[in-house]
Amino acid sequence: MALIDVKSFKKSFRGKTVHKDISFSVNKGECLGLVGGSGVGKSVVLRSLIGLEKADGGQIMIDGEDITKFSESQLTHVRIKVAYVFQNGALFDSLTIFENLAFPLREHTDLNENQIQEKISEQLEEFGLSGNENLYPNQLSGGMQKRVGLARSIIIGPKAILYDEPTAGLDPYNTLKIQEMILRMKKKGVTSILVTHDMPTAFAVCDRFCLIEDGRIKAQGTRDELENQKEGYLKKFIDGERGK
Ligand SMILES: Nc1ncnc2c1ncn2[C@@H]1O[C@H](COP(=O)(O)OP(=O)(O)OP(=O)(O)O)[C@@H](O)[C@H]1O
Ligand SMILES: [Mg+2]
Repeated sequence: MALIDVKSFKKSFRGKTVHKDISFSVNKGECLGLVGGSGVGKSVVLRSLIGLEKADGGQIMIDGEDITKFSESQLTHVRIKVAYVFQNGALFDSLTIFENLAFPLREHTDLNENQIQEKISEQLEEFGLSGNENLYPNQLSGGMQKRVGLARSIIIGPKAILYDEPTAGLDPYNTLKIQEMILRMKKKGVTSILVTHDMPTAFAVCDRFCLIEDGRIKAQGTRDELENQKEGYLKKFIDGERGK
């Protein structure tokens, strides 16, 4: 069954059409790769899925409910169910790593201080970040900051995770760590969408792909299906990315 089902989604900004007709779905437990050139509107799709952008038309069904009609308070519940890992990590610079992770727990759960501490130690351990509790984000490397951002996004146990270029600018070690985390979340049954230009990572973790071009889904399917298409959209896209 689809946890995320987007039907004829449309979006323009001040008269400039970004999405004409976007339709795709993501089944429970599946990881969908959302790919396409820079500026085709991948981040706009992810933001729209949790109501950070308003759709101009179409439906966005999350767990069977059309969130395009939701109020801000209803959207808060959607954002607990569906975590968004921002392109830049989006940590609070003035808070320690511990406080960054404690923030969503204090906001959205009834855990007491001991339970919060326990949960954060567990999470940091799982992400290979133990011992950094009292540091501030600017005292960590970019790769570690991204891992903390990911840890914070998923600490309250979302049903789905939207990853926006989680490996951009990372070295091979941190890229591998992020891949492992995505796979670990998948094993737990979490549904995900990965937006990326990093095709090795996409191929390592995604079950299926959607290629966006010119406001529409140009092609979708498994890697094999896309590679066997006579139009060769995926290959053209990858060759285009290589040429950059
Ligand atoms: N809030 C906004 N106001 C106006 N235009 C916007 C807004 N957000 C996005 N856009 C425009 O929508 C288009 C798609 O942007 P988006 O950030 O989704 O692209 P992207 O596919 O994620 O690109 P990249 O791969 O570079 O991250 C761009 O032309 C961008 O300028
Ligand atoms: Mg983007």
